[in-house]
Amino acid sequence: MLDKVKELSEEVRLFKSVSKDEIESFRIKYLGTKGLLKELFSEFKNVDPALRKDFGQALNSLKKATEEKVRFLNDSLENSDDENGSYGDLTRPGEPIRLGSQHPISIVKNKIIDVFNRVGFTVSEGPEIEDDWHNFTALNLPEYHPARDMQDTFFIDEDPDILLRTHTSSVQVRYMENNEPPIRTVSPGRVFRNEDISARAHCIFHQVEGLYIDTDVSFADLKQTLLYFTKEMFGTSKIRLRPSYFPFTEPSAEVDIYWGLETETDYRITKGTGWLEIMGCGMVDPNVLKNCNIDPSVYSGYAFGMGIERIAMLLYQIPDIRMFYENDIRFLKQFKSVL
Ligand code: PHE
Repeated sequence: MLDKVKELSEEVRLFKSVSKDEIESFRIKYLGTKGLLKELFSEFKNVDPALRKDFGQALNSLKKATEEKVRFLNDSLENSDDENGSYGDLTRPGEPIRLGSQHPISIVKNKIIDVFNRVGFTVSEGPEIEDDWHNFTALNLPEYHPARDMQDTFFIDEDPDILLRTHTSSVQVRYMENNEPPIRTVSPGRVFRNEDISARAHCIFHQVEGLYIDTDVSFADLKQTLLYFTKEMFGTSKIRLRPSYFPFTEPSAEVDIYWGLETETDYRITKGTGWLEIMGCGMVDPNVLKNCNIDPSVYSGYAFGMGIERIAMLLYQIPDIRMFYENDIRFLKQFKSVL
């Protein structure tokens, strides 16, 4: 009896066909209600009880193998395009290609870059693992400068000289070292700060910083660029500049846009003032120019920097910064359109 099962298994294994009818008669012959397997199953009761286990197992695997064979042959028939003309059903609707969506951080980053590209800024990038010089010292933050505490730093391997950049201003230092003015560049990228993670802050986030250096660049040029930017990005030129401090710019300012106070959310996110801070900026400190081999008696410039998450949260009304990094498909698929 076991031999019979083996014999059939071999037959099944060797069976080949590319025609629908042949496969169907094969299926009926083995698996049909009056098929060979049914017959063997009904023999089960006549088998010596000592051999029943082996017989049962062999029979079950034969059944499985036969079913799989039928499925396999039918599938390959449907997908085949050989010369027998077995193209499957050509009238079947095509498989839809699912379109992915861009991450909201990418959408907003590209929009910011696009706005600055239009007025002549190039894009520059640099390493995420930086040295002290490019992240701090060249930016007028010498060792032991208290303002280093404004950005809590991740150091690599306890080496105080190698760190994860805390801002993309480091890219601007590299750019100034390697390019002659006039310089107009924006530096997008990932930055790292040793901060507690909350709804409003994360230890990894993204920035776009900008740098403009030429002869006779004044604060008025900076302001005009900011007006253009906020108009393009948020549809408003109602901004205010609040005096602030950054070691690498002098004077420095914080840029607020007028968001309005129409809804309860507006009250919440603007803390009842209607104004929202969107970036820091200022005139590049002459010490920074000197550190990068640019003569401050000939050239001057402005710089600005903003967090992409913050802008994306405002534009899309996203309440929690952590949502950007969770990769929840229900969140991500909402961003199909480009701004
Ligand atoms: N580098 C600053 C920060 O990360 C932002 C900034 C850039 C401010 C350029 C002024 C000028 O907070």
